[in-house]
Amino acid sequence: MLPPGPRLPSAAQTAWFMLDPAGAFDRLHRRYGPIFTVRYFGFPPEVYVTTAELAEEVFRTDQGGGLAGAARRDFLEPLVGAHSVLTLDGDAWSRHRKALTPPLRARQVAGYHDEITDIAAEKIATWPLGVPIALRDLMQDITLEVIIRLVFGIRDAERLGRLRALLPRLIKFGGSMSVAMLPARLRERAAAAPFLPYARFLKLRAGVDAILYEEIARRRQDETDGTDVLSRLLASGLTDEEIRDELVTLLIAGHETTATSLAWAFERLLRLPHVLERLPDDEPYLDAVVKEVMRVRPAVYEAPRLLDAPLRLGGHEIPAGVYAGPFIPLVHHDPVAFPSPGEFRPERFLDGQQNRAWMPFGGGRRFCVGAQLALLEMRVIIREVLHRLDLTAPDPAPEPRRLTNVTFTPARLTRVIARARSLDRTS
Ligand code: HEM
Repeated sequence: MLPPGPRLPSAAQTAWFMLDPAGAFDRLHRRYGPIFTVRYFGFPPEVYVTTAELAEEVFRTDQGGGLAGAARRDFLEPLVGAHSVLTLDGDAWSRHRKALTPPLRARQVAGYHDEITDIAAEKIATWPLGVPIALRDLMQDITLEVIIRLVFGIRDAERLGRLRALLPRLIKFGGSMSVAMLPARLRERAAAAPFLPYARFLKLRAGVDAILYEEIARRRQDETDGTDVLSRLLASGLTDEEIRDELVTLLIAGHETTATSLAWAFERLLRLPHVLERLPDDEPYLDAVVKEVMRVRPAVYEAPRLLDAPLRLGGHEIPAGVYAGPFIPLVHHDPVAFPSPGEFRPERFLDGQQNRAWMPFGGGRRFCVGAQLALLEMRVIIREVLHRLDLTAPDPAPEPRRLTNVTFTPARLTRVIARARSLDRTS
């Protein structure tokens, strides 16, 4: 028997969640406790859990019984292809994960520190001053550039220009309902109808792929070793097609999530002057602030597995064919794991201890492979912004959470007014 959940028709449950995601889940949690079932229109039921213990039981299915790849495949495959660590499972997933892990380890990404600083400084210098700006979009501009230059390693000005123009459109199209929600069996027919968004998406994708394959071919010929992630993937034994899919995967998994987390960091900091005051030069405190932001405003709200075997969870026997996963914002508000969870207290992360209830990057074997890069980017970019600019929020009310693709985004995209710092904190 599935755990309890709302009896509304699935279309109504879907609409409720889209309109008021945070409110809907708070209500369900209060009513049903730490495990409940939600039904989205057109999908198998999804069992959500809200404690670290139950989440760990779900993550344990990565060793057998749960498929993280299958849970994401339908809506991600048009964009990332058939050879992506996001959508594969089993042996194929293991092989890809082994290729991607080494270049994204903490020690490797530490080498990107100065280049991320330069990219952030270049971009910040172009921001308009004295007028309201949407920080989320500006953050996305920085994180996209990090992927193009440090992950893809593209230096050629002409290719850089083409990618900068094409990628934002590809991502927007790929994440739109008309592409991501198009059932796999209809894709071939949709591709043949040039007026449909899917066919336009395919054209864009072909444009991006041409650049990526050109770069892969060029690099296979050039013997010199680069420090970017692509250079390391070329030596990993993956084929060109597999490498193309993984490059797009890192882009899709890595840039919007990081930009949204950064947007939340500024949204929170501008409303917490006593925290902002201690930034950015106290390094351990900055690191703790980043972690506390990701606790109170995790960008990705769930990490589901599609069960391919029954699972005993929280006293229920969940059948195969159902999704199960943590609802991350609620796990992060469990008062047992995080005392006074409503308070913003970076100090809880200052002792360096791991808290297993902190899961903005998911868990189990499918734990985010880019977590170290994301954390580094966040620290560097926050520091660069605060060194150069004074930010204020034109509307002091907190920004509510809005659902965009797979992330919770600040509803006003973190609206701020930037002014040049009167005292240069870099000196
Ligand atoms: C703050 C930024 C980020 C957040 C919040 C985030 C969050 C997540 C989450 C929740 C998962 C799912 C884990 C699970 O199912 O248990 C995940 C997976 C993944 N992330 Fe991230 N991520 C971020 C940045 C990045 C970056 C920068 C990259 C790479 C450049 C990246 C690459 C990936 C990949 C490839 C996976 C799939 C791993 C697998 O299935 O084996 N992520 N991420």
